Amino acid sequence: MVFAAMERTGENHDKTSTDKTATPAKRETPVNRSPLRTFQLDRAFTFVESGPVLLIATAHDRQRNVMTVSCHASMGFEPAIGIMLGPWNHSYRALTETGECVVAIPGADLMEATVDIGNCSGNVVDKFKHFGLTARKGARVKAPLVAECLYNLECVVVEKPRPDGRELFVLQGVKAWHNPQRKERRTFHAKGDGTFIIDGECVDLRNRMTKWQHCI
Ligand SMILES: Cc1cc2nc3c(=O)[nH]c(=O)nc-3n(C[C@H](O)[C@H](O)[C@H](O)COP(=O)(O)O)c2cc1C
Repeated sequence: MVFAAMERTGENHDKTSTDKTATPAKRETPVNRSPLRTFQLDRAFTFVESGPVLLIATAHDRQRNVMTVSCHASMGFEPAIGIMLGPWNHSYRALTETGECVVAIPGADLMEATVDIGNCSGNVVDKFKHFGLTARKGARVKAPLVAECLYNLECVVVEKPRPDGRELFVLQGVKAWHNPQRKERRTFHAKGDGTFIIDGECVDLRNRMTKWQHCI
């Protein structure tokens, strides 16, 4: 695992990616009372199918926290999501001990904040406060929703890392939300070397999905 290897050795990526010409999207003004609407749970796998950078929110020992995760995979339509989470993260203990979290999908306007969130620890800072994020009460888990995100998925942990295995948590979504008020609808994707890709052109090929009409 890249993050684990880097943590152990302190080594850096090779710097082959030089395509850093774009500037990050401007952050939208926080809307404190922006509405979160429920979202069809069996369509919530679409939140993560394209591999956006995620925020994982937890609540543990009366402390809320949020971290950044880019190593993840859509593992089922229930929906199920696999996230690779190193034990050095403060969130690891919260996830292990509470067995629940919220997977939040930030829009491109939260790109810089999301990277900064992944460069500090809930051990030393209240990241909701520090980064001006609004924690909203969910319906099924104690972990907070992140109101500024495009989508939030309340999750329970259905598989924890095994002692001799990978640091893989499998999450099952139990309640899904979206924020229709966010103007910036693009998500962003980590290339793994500190550079990121913002969603580009979307091509609609639904009419060619002849075998999979029931999935779209
Ligand atoms: C873009 C980005 C992606 C990251 N992806 C992961 C990941 O997939 N797994 C992981 O364990 N840490 C990942 N991290 C590192 C954690 O977000 C970081 O260790 C964070 O500070 C942990 O916060 P916490 O100590 O409050 O839990 C990522 C960091 C960044 C900036």
